[in-house]
Amino acid sequence: MSNISVFIDPATIEKRISELAEQITNDYKDKSITLICVLKGSVIFMASLAKKLRLDTEFEFMSVSSYENTDSTGIVKIETDLKSSIYGKDVLLVEDIIDTGHTLSHLVKHLKSKEPASLKMCTLLDKPERRVVNDVNPEYIGFTIPDKFVVGYGLDYNQKYRHLDYIGILEV
Ligand code: IMP
Ligand code: MG
Repeated sequence: MSNISVFIDPATIEKRISELAEQITNDYKDKSITLICVLKGSVIFMASLAKKLRLDTEFEFMSVSSYENTDSTGIVKIETDLKSSIYGKDVLLVEDIIDTGHTLSHLVKHLKSKEPASLKMCTLLDKPERRVVNDVNPEYIGFTIPDKFVVGYGLDYNQKYRHLDYIGILEV
């Protein structure tokens, strides 16, 4: 059993997500938005964020693979693409964490080719010290964190710890 220390507690996470939801609600006014959840890491964040939005929404899901243990490979593969068209829609891509930036950069190129009316990005966590690809910057960021491997609130280590209601630092 690895040792996990609480880094961001549940109340702080929910409060920050409420603030993001208010900002997003104001920015999109009465528009309807398509939320894209990047499986599996974003599932808990998107569920919490969506519940706090005061907008009409549609949910879409994608899955990508890009990560091996604690070191990004930089190779991003779309495992499951969207099932519906986003042509002409206002799209908000919901991510768990931006680390090297490879995943986000690849996803944005892919999604832009589908010609949405607009595309913005929302990430729960941002680890700017680790950035390798700098061509995309999320409009909405929950927390900017140092270069530590974190788990919980959707984030995993070898598929474990996603269910934790806090964000913890994993000492491996
Ligand atoms: P990037 O392509 O390097 O930006 O990596 C993005 C993906 O790597 C995220 O969607 C996560 O799945 C994973 N990842 C990056 N840092 C962490 C971390 O600290 N904990 C858990 N997963 C991480
Ligand atoms: Mg992951």
